[in-house]
Amino acid sequence: MRAVTIAPQAGRGKLALIQAIRPAPAAGEVLVQVASAGVNRADLLQRAGHYPPPPGAPPWPGLEISGTVIVAGHGVSSPRVGDEVVALLEGGGYAEYAVARAAQTLPVPDGVGLVDAAALPEAVCTAWTNLVDTARLRPGEWVLVQGGSGGVGSIAVQLAKALGAHVVATAGGPERVAHVRALGADVVVDHHASDVVAAVREATGGRGVDVVLDVLGGGGLADNVRALAPDGRLVVIGLQQGRRGELDLAAVLATRATVTGTLLRSRTPAEKAAIVAAVREHVWPMVADGRVRPVVHARLPLADADDALTSLERGEVFGKVLLVTGAPAASSGATDAPSAQGWDA
Ligand SMILES: NC(=O)c1ccc[n+]([C@@H]2O[C@H](COP(=O)([O-])OP(=O)(O)OC[C@H]3O[C@@H](n4cnc5c(N)ncnc54)[C@H](OP(=O)(O)O)[C@@H]3O)[C@@H](O)[C@H]2O)c1
Repeated sequence: MRAVTIAPQAGRGKLALIQAIRPAPAAGEVLVQVASAGVNRADLLQRAGHYPPPPGAPPWPGLEISGTVIVAGHGVSSPRVGDEVVALLEGGGYAEYAVARAAQTLPVPDGVGLVDAAALPEAVCTAWTNLVDTARLRPGEWVLVQGGSGGVGSIAVQLAKALGAHVVATAGGPERVAHVRALGADVVVDHHASDVVAAVREATGGRGVDVVLDVLGGGGLADNVRALAPDGRLVVIGLQQGRRGELDLAAVLATRATVTGTLLRSRTPAEKAAIVAAVREHVWPMVADGRVRPVVHARLPLADADDALTSLERGEVFGKVLLVTGAPAASSGATDAPSAQGWDA
């Protein structure tokens, strides 16, 4: 099969297509003929040699895929051969075939094409587990989504609205602000032009937000704590502005703030399976009725993986970039991402 991996002949830290051995599913796993793979920031780290895949995972990147099950391993009763699924992987999605744990697959949701469905698993599982399991976001609360234009953020904005929360989101530049507003955010702040904490205070009548979902890390810590309402919860999921920051403990004491963080990739298979099951029960109906939609910036051939990652690295992507293998779909093919007008390739 064809797969995309770090190829020394392509230059340091560059990705290239190679011929690889098709993997075989073990007990509890399925082999998926990949239709498309979502591109994530973790893949950038892996391309740079900083994020080796866990033991047993293929050396090529790819944390999420959509495709058709062609082999079911021992003991797997669902999904079945021929089913169209999405899957959360430990790695190895940038390929024509990938092995997935059956418990980390979900059916392609109603109303979403097979190709575009690959934009969902990583972002939806991350947004769900952090907003609901970790932050305990409740209807009527306010949430600040830092990076509402990103792969995770564009889903988190829609999910938080569907959960009945009020949403403030950030984006960089007027065009990206407009597109995040189209996803349903109540207030969108251009972080290049405006003070995010001031905008949060204005939106919430001076109270602050109950939850911050943060992709910035160290560089965003001070402002994120300042943005919290009493009993607020800051959940850090990204470290785009570094792993260290200064925490004002007086503010934590005064507001009874919780500062925490999570990482999906290092969760145990049982924890991932529980998140996937909760997503299937609670979020998949929201996807099927259109409240939460994949946001697809571009669909590129697998051979263009290196360009796709570079585009993500440069901050040019709104939502997700997908790598498409060209595998035939049993059903409808690609679906447009309706609420991200202008961003659909
Ligand atoms: N913990 C986990 O389990 C988990 C899972 C998935 C992803 N992640 C991490 O979460 C982060 C986001 O992932 P992603 O897939 O959404 O990445 P992405 O698609 O590249 O999005 C990055 C986002 O960061 C925003 N951003 C950059 N600088 C900013 C600033 N100064 N202020 C506010 N926003 C800023 C960008 O907004 P503009 O370009 O519009 O400014 C963009 O929306 C990454 O670090 C990723 O590794 C963590």
